[in-house]
Amino acid sequence: MSKEIIKYSSAPLKGEINPPGDKSISHRSLILGSIANGTSLVKDFLISDDTISTANAMRALGITIEINGTQVEIIGKGLYGLSKPEKVIDCGNSGTTTRLLSGLLSAQTFTSTLTGDKYLQARPMRRVVGPLTLMGAQIAGKDDGNKLPLTITGTKLKGIRYELPVPSAQVKSAILLAGLYAEGETEVIESEASRDHTERMLSYLGVPIKKNGNNIKINSVDVINPGEIIVPADISSAAFFIVAALITPGSEVLIKNVGVNPLRTGIIDILKNMGGNIEIINEREVNGEPIGDIVARSSNLHATEISGELIPKAIDELPLVAVAACFAEGETLIRDAKELRVKETDRIKAMATELGKLGARVLEFEDGMSIMGSQSLTGSVCSSWGDHRIAMSIAIAATRARGETKILDAECVSVSYPGFFKVIDELRR
Ligand code: S3P
Repeated sequence: MSKEIIKYSSAPLKGEINPPGDKSISHRSLILGSIANGTSLVKDFLISDDTISTANAMRALGITIEINGTQVEIIGKGLYGLSKPEKVIDCGNSGTTTRLLSGLLSAQTFTSTLTGDKYLQARPMRRVVGPLTLMGAQIAGKDDGNKLPLTITGTKLKGIRYELPVPSAQVKSAILLAGLYAEGETEVIESEASRDHTERMLSYLGVPIKKNGNNIKINSVDVINPGEIIVPADISSAAFFIVAALITPGSEVLIKNVGVNPLRTGIIDILKNMGGNIEIINEREVNGEPIGDIVARSSNLHATEISGELIPKAIDELPLVAVAACFAEGETLIRDAKELRVKETDRIKAMATELGKLGARVLEFEDGMSIMGSQSLTGSVCSSWGDHRIAMSIAIAATRARGETKILDAECVSVSYPGFFKVIDELRR
């Protein structure tokens, strides 16, 4: 178990940051590249534990994937080219790997089993097993199909019309991937829009996909084209340094080539509502995804209230919003965010506990939390709860907590941002 020590510093953060590639897009590039007809080239791919779980899963399904630095070559074998894995597929900590592959594997001609680490084994899978079963999938799992390991016996699927009970890009994507093989049309309806990287990449690779508001329709296809995919930097990783700059007097950072898909920029909307001085410049589009450079400067923040359709657009950044709220004037309220309880860990409990150790006043609700701002924080011994985003969120709070903070079990940052602690050091030099 590794620990990281973060010391308080009044030094402004200055400089340029190039965060690693977007995790969601990196996963999808591997999966769609594997079932495309021919070789795809992915540039600026995220090398991290989660994406390597997907790469190894696709290799276990018979796909050749060559990784060279952050460049990845995938030799796709077409929609019907995957082969039966010899062993159980280990998805590690990655919910995205598990849920997207559940959809894909439901339509194959062989049986396969997915499992994961102790955190993933505790996460709910009925949300994908349910709709896939309605499509005809044969999936057996622990806890009546709700928990890993899941054993999936591939079969002929039929299209369904499915209203998602909770907005989830993973569930939506699993259904769409199954829909690529299903007889008849598959329609997914979201009450609130979740990230649409699957839809954008499918479309970029030539698969017709109809979108009308929050309704998405797909039909089976014979071919997915291979392509060149440039992965934007992950806004979820950039967000840590945006908040660090806002809460550290005298700071100005430039974060380059960040994915600014409007279904991912909830964190920017929230921080701007709090008075954050943030600009997106040099906006452009790369393989169907908007990207831009982000400038963030130190700001006097004030409290805000977050709920409803903003929640899925900032779902992975809500722990970090709690950190920003500690340095804002007034009481910040996060509601409608019950989903945080079933992420890599219970992120409501984790943030309330760990920020509490630093002296913050955080009140837990079943579906969110309230954070009292303008409290001075003091370093302590904190735990990551084995969750990368908790480790990084606490690290950012710790940069402004008097004294020093030890973060235990900090190696889990490698799930999404292996170089994270090094970047903090460099910016403070
Ligand atoms: C993801 C979707 C979100 C997000 C996760 C990545 C994806 O999960 O929290 O980190 O890549 O589709 P849900 O689908 O559970 O909301």
